[in-house]
Amino acid sequence: MNSFTTSWGAYRLTRFPEDPREQLRAWDAADEYLLRRLAGETEEPAVPVALSGTVVVLGDRWGALTTALAGHTPVVQISDSYLGQRATAANLERNGVPAGAVRLLTTTEPPPERIDVLLVRVPKSLALLEDQLHRLAPALHPDSVVLAAGMVTEIHTSTLQLFERLVGPTRTSLAVRKARLVFSTPDPGQARPANPWPLRYALPDGIGAVSGRTVTNFAGVFCADRLDIGTRFLLQHLPPTAAAGGRTRVVDLGCGNGVLGTAVALADPRADLLFVDESHQAVASAEATFRANAPAGARAEFLAGDALAAVPADSVDLVLNNPPFHSHRATTDAAAWRMFTGARRALRPGGELWVVGNRHLGYHVKLRRLFGNCETVAANPKFVILRAVTSRG
Ligand SMILES: C[S@@+](CC[C@H](N)C(=O)[O-])C[C@H]1O[C@@H](n2cnc3c(N)ncnc32)[C@H](O)[C@@H]1O
Repeated sequence: MNSFTTSWGAYRLTRFPEDPREQLRAWDAADEYLLRRLAGETEEPAVPVALSGTVVVLGDRWGALTTALAGHTPVVQISDSYLGQRATAANLERNGVPAGAVRLLTTTEPPPERIDVLLVRVPKSLALLEDQLHRLAPALHPDSVVLAAGMVTEIHTSTLQLFERLVGPTRTSLAVRKARLVFSTPDPGQARPANPWPLRYALPDGIGAVSGRTVTNFAGVFCADRLDIGTRFLLQHLPPTAAAGGRTRVVDLGCGNGVLGTAVALADPRADLLFVDESHQAVASAEATFRANAPAGARAEFLAGDALAAVPADSVDLVLNNPPFHSHRATTDAAAWRMFTGARRALRPGGELWVVGNRHLGYHVKLRRLFGNCETVAANPKFVILRAVTSRG
């Protein structure tokens, strides 16, 4: 575990879930720069920011900002990430910050009605930032402080234009250790355009039961404006699920906008579905997609969680999964591995995990190691669909 030393104090922080093999830090130079600016330790201008009234932290990755500030002022944290909020809760506890000092809100919950200080850790998704600024801007007043931080690779002209358009006049700081600050002055008289989120689009033909159906995408969801080509490939090869006798229990794991699970419900209205994602926006999207399309009487639950951690062992017949991929290879591997091990535990004997992935990711090696078998259901030049079956005991 690493120690995050700031003028606000020194904190022991980890990501969630903790992975002892990977010592990735739970903060970065953007968090440090923001905290230094708040304490008045930067060049421009070297005056501390008064943290009074309602202080909101948006987009804190693993709770570094929230943990550092909550020992000094009550904080409302708004996050889309279940994993990020689990990390925040664990980091607060580890560092002795009373739980009452922080209110954890998700991006889908109503924000505070008045915000005096808005601190933004610029999210990776510009769409999520756009949606959140739309939701939070009405709570700002002319004296609200709005301060954002991000790595230079995360702050583009389009990012600054969003602040300019939705909050008010905006400028940036110099880059320090590849991080940058954004200062925005709220202009309550500003006419804001309508929030374009959620975005809906019609699915193409030729993808089975969901062909031509409309999917709903809240901001920040994977492939929010078009169908992913890997997902499309899996939709064309979904297994039949209708079980003789009982209902088939199916999990759409890492559900995004819920298109895979909704396809199952349309093909087999008796299926019993669970949609899981670590993004609250994704879970909301899946629920909206399912409700708009599923046949009457179709059953589904919607869960923000970490892979299959909350699903009982030996309770599921089929898991469908298009695992997350990031630029950071180790993170990708860890997430896929957690999903596959979770599926191995949650599946009943004879239950199946169907995975679509880029060929080069080599998921078959992991699946064979875990399940003792792995069959290629379909392949094209870019993707493979793999099927692993749990042994019958
Ligand atoms: C490649 S996207 C697939 C989305 C959707 N199934 C589709 O095919 O369009 C992977 C999804 O996994 C989710 N995810 C990442 N880590 C997760 C975790 N630990 N638990 C649950 N979902 C996770 C991401 O938020 C993302 O929505």
